[in-house]
Amino acid sequence: MKLLDVLNGEAVWPPPVWLMRQAGRYLPEYRDLRAEAGDFLKLCMNPKLAAEVTLQPVRRFGFDAAILFSDILILPMVLGQELRFGEGEGPVLPPITSLKEVSALSVDAAVAGFAPIIETVRLTRAELPGKTALIGFAGGPFTVACYMLDGKGSGGDFPRTRMLAYENPALVDAVIELLVQATILYLQAQLDAGANCVMLFESWAGILPSRLFKKLVIEPNRQIVAALRAKNPAVKIIGFPRLSGLLVGEYVRGTGVDAVGLDSVTDPAAAIAACPPGSVFQGNLDPLLLRVGGAALDQGINDTLDGFRGQRHIFNLGHGITPDVKPETVARLMNVIQASSAVL
Ligand code: CP3
Repeated sequence: MKLLDVLNGEAVWPPPVWLMRQAGRYLPEYRDLRAEAGDFLKLCMNPKLAAEVTLQPVRRFGFDAAILFSDILILPMVLGQELRFGEGEGPVLPPITSLKEVSALSVDAAVAGFAPIIETVRLTRAELPGKTALIGFAGGPFTVACYMLDGKGSGGDFPRTRMLAYENPALVDAVIELLVQATILYLQAQLDAGANCVMLFESWAGILPSRLFKKLVIEPNRQIVAALRAKNPAVKIIGFPRLSGLLVGEYVRGTGVDAVGLDSVTDPAAAIAACPPGSVFQGNLDPLLLRVGGAALDQGINDTLDGFRGQRHIFNLGHGITPDVKPETVARLMNVIQASSAVL
């Protein structure tokens, strides 16, 4: 598996490729299965259909990895917090306001509740070609806590969560501690069911001042990495501290992740300089270029390849594919990357 070779420290050319949100609404075959399931959450909780959706982009484009089709907000849902995806408004949860509401959530209920997701991992691994890695995932505790405490995406601002971090730190800590425990069990179950590595999506890491970044992002991520590694010494873990800027090196050193996903605004050379020598990088093409296409896309792909040349690199976007991308443009991206093998 090319992806695992890179995670194990080999430099591979051309780099393995997969794309965040590679399964999703830009694919007509996804829209068909989503309609068959009824809605997004029913699709996530239906192992047969979710496994099929996981496989669709691998079949179409030949990616080096599949990522489990699910969502980071399944965990709060199975812990006992109500979750719905309003049409066109994204996730909505009743915001947590007290420690009493945190104690009503249950890790035991979560373990029972995430069983269908674990079944999706098993079914997907059985169907994937041997050379294709299966990536399991969870949200980073801070990012998931943002949705649990704010109740919705709020354009990525999460004012309630950030206020609570100052005004009621005990409440934020309690939510994060619960998520750390549940996430360890969730990712361990995915590994046991056949996931070849796991990724932590800390998508809102970049909204915190440095002291809180260390406390609410680095420390909880470190605890998850340490617990998984204690049980599975060879496990490979990718962290994605999106928009963490100059703190990316501290994130890598502090958490012990094996690879770091970079957003599109991070300069490859700056990230390479900030991280320990021999780090593994994943990223970081601007997803907008998949809407633009043409020569600008080709230029962006080649800039990304050049930016990480000589490093251990997994090609990806800096954030997820958007629904308005044409599948043909993703096929073009794959061709441009393959063609680059001539210019090692
Ligand atoms: O293909 C894959 O990448 C795997 C599946 C996956 C989804 N969400 C499917 C999804 C993964 C890894 C995620 C992670 C996720 N979910 C994150 C972290 C990564 C990131 O994008 O920053 C976050 C913050 C979420 C929360 C979430 N889920 C939001 C805010 C939304 C609404 C926005 C949107 O794109 O509609 C979702 C919905 C969602 N998750 C969809 C998909 C395919 C769209 C659902 C649909 O079909 O309507």
